[in-house]
Amino acid sequence: MTDLAGTVVVITGAADGIGRALAGAFATAGARLVLADINRPLVEAVGRELSQLGTEVMTAGTDVSSREQVVELRDAAIARFGTVHVLCNNAGVMGPAGDPLWELPIDEWQRVMAVNLWGVLHGIQAFLPAILAAGQPGHVLNTASMQGVTSGTLIPEYTVSKHAVVALSEALRAQLTARGAPVGVTVLCPGAVVTDLASREYDRLTQVGDGKPWAVAPGGGGGQQRWGSSALTPAEVAAAAVTAVQQDRFYVFTSPGSRTRVEARLGPILDALDALDALGGEGEGGPA
Ligand SMILES: NC(=O)c1ccc[n+]([C@@H]2O[C@H](COP(=O)([O-])OP(=O)(O)OC[C@H]3O[C@@H](n4cnc5c(N)ncnc54)[C@H](O)[C@@H]3O)[C@@H](O)[C@H]2O)c1
Repeated sequence: MTDLAGTVVVITGAADGIGRALAGAFATAGARLVLADINRPLVEAVGRELSQLGTEVMTAGTDVSSREQVVELRDAAIARFGTVHVLCNNAGVMGPAGDPLWELPIDEWQRVMAVNLWGVLHGIQAFLPAILAAGQPGHVLNTASMQGVTSGTLIPEYTVSKHAVVALSEALRAQLTARGAPVGVTVLCPGAVVTDLASREYDRLTQVGDGKPWAVAPGGGGGQQRWGSSALTPAEVAAAAVTAVQQDRFYVFTSPGSRTRVEARLGPILDALDALDALGGEGEGGPA
């Protein structure tokens, strides 16, 4: 989708952070926007700001963890613009530090999965049939994270949700390619980005946390994440994402040090495969 002028772009989690920056970047590229967020007043303010700059915008208060609300968003977008070309499944929440994970309550796991995984699936299931039926070039941009391709002790529930988003995106791309559909897929894997993702979690935990070890916000006390020198701005990440949509690139890494982190995860996997080879155990393999 080299030319985004006049296209209709849906962005979830558009009230702040990366989603808000995506809205600005797609607006600069001439797109018409459907901006959705669970924070209705904030997303309406973003919509007003962009429409004053000349972009055609509609906004919606949408909780992506609700399938019904995402279907309503699809219907409202099509009622307003007649079609949708690009879907950005960007809304996400962080969750508590989650250590030890065996004490992290199931409802905390479910909350993160409901937004970060089910929210993405709800978007795909609601919008993709309409994008395909239109028969025009389209694109799905899923915001995962470096946590979707690495692992570690930090925020396991978030990491699990982002691994799932990467796997979901890979399956989606393969199925669309197999059908020859004119719809591309991008999975965005940023490292640290300077947003309020962690401080939102801190604020929530001051309401619901009860002093348990798992109930601290990632990134330390006070809700202020300690950003390393490699942290990017939302605008930098959004610019990389929009370019990837235009160039139809799939995996998009944005942050310095990404290769080292991915190699650190893959090293033990490749070592185990070497061990299998040494035993003469390499076979054809099946789906599982
Ligand atoms: N900030 C980072 O370091 C970083 C790194 C990698 C990936 N990400 C991912 O980027 C995406 C955007 O996060 P961000 O850093 O811009 O954070 P953010 O908190 O600034 O923005 C997230 C937005 O999503 C909205 N939201 C939360 N729950 C929602 C729901 N149920 N339905 C609809 N909207 C909802 C929030 O109101 C907020 O406006 C997330 O998927 C996040 O996991 C962030």
